[in-house]
Amino acid sequence: MRAQEQDGGRGAREQETAVYRAQANVNLAAIERNCARLSTQLRDGAALCAVVKADGYGHGAVASARAALAGGASWLAVADTREARELRDAGLREPRVLVMGALTPVELEQALALDADVVVWNEAFVRAVAAAGGGRVHVKLDSGMGRLGTRDPQEATRVAQAAQSAPGVELAGVMTHFATADELDDGGFFAAQLASFARWARTIKQRSPEVIVHAANSAATMREHEAQFDMVRCGIAIYGMDPFGKDPAARALEPALELRSYVAEVKLCRSGESAGYGRQFVADGDTHIGVLPIGYGDGWRRGLSNNADVLIAGRRHPLVGTVSMDSITVELGADADAAKLRGERAILIGIQGSERITAEEIARRLDTINYEITCALTPRVIRTYHRDGAAL
Ligand SMILES: Cc1ncc(COP(=O)(O)O)c(C=O)c1O
Repeated sequence: MRAQEQDGGRGAREQETAVYRAQANVNLAAIERNCARLSTQLRDGAALCAVVKADGYGHGAVASARAALAGGASWLAVADTREARELRDAGLREPRVLVMGALTPVELEQALALDADVVVWNEAFVRAVAAAGGGRVHVKLDSGMGRLGTRDPQEATRVAQAAQSAPGVELAGVMTHFATADELDDGGFFAAQLASFARWARTIKQRSPEVIVHAANSAATMREHEAQFDMVRCGIAIYGMDPFGKDPAARALEPALELRSYVAEVKLCRSGESAGYGRQFVADGDTHIGVLPIGYGDGWRRGLSNNADVLIAGRRHPLVGTVSMDSITVELGADADAAKLRGERAILIGIQGSERITAEEIARRLDTINYEITCALTPRVIRTYHRDGAAL
């Protein structure tokens, strides 16, 4: 829906009428292209597994999965059974789905019933898989992450052999996960992890060449060809965010998610008057305040109080005062024309005119990582989808 702007002073720019108070508008063509680009960086024969856990890092799991598959991914990975079920229920029955997280006995049975691959690292797990009727397993060596997996390569080998001899169980893969792939200055830890995993995986591969070896997340995929093995498991990069926390454009990644709201109200704020809880913003001269209906209940974190910009009418405006559960306030300036910004679209992550706010910028302000910014967006934020501007 578009309405011609009433304000002659700002020329012929059009004002788009907001449809939702808080909206994540996801460009599926960007996810597709990010996957296609990643695929060109893979060594011969390596498969791309698109990681769509946590609702596709906040982008929507099913839509992201479909876009990733269209872009060349052939596997999907999630963290738990519920996420695997969402994919299967949506009709994604063909691609292999790897459940990477820990599973309770009940969840294990459910995952296998969904024809998902599961991760194991001791012989009891293998027996549990056999007892549940069998299924495909990936043995995890903990080469240094210090989370799931066995640290002992000999135990990992025993688990792999147990999987190959247990009735109904198939050893589909062997894997590890890097702790410092995104830290280029990690004192050699990444290289050491890679070397110890490669040494062990080679012994498995010699005996069982059909087993899929996989280790790399987005950072490892981009950083080191040798880490790609038979398959890479990429999450952050497929959504167009930079695994190293830098500008995604530098690595030709296209951010897929735009976060929008709109200016629901504009009010004059006289010198000495305040906006928001705790009076954390007090005007030091007459100004205008725009009220945007998005807040920490939508995942726009309270740490952004007095600590973010919002794009309105092609310009950066500072978020002033405290982020509330349902709204934020931005300073629009003293100019009387500010009142005309009522109803204008507001971009919290994305591009408007020549200005751009990335998830990486927001992450820096919050002293966190880009992953957390999009994952934090709550279900109250309506997800909408388009392909390069064409609504779906
Ligand atoms: C085991 C595992 N593999 C792969 C990934 C994908 O990582 P990234 O989003 O950095 O590509 C994750 C994400 O946390 C993970 O836990």
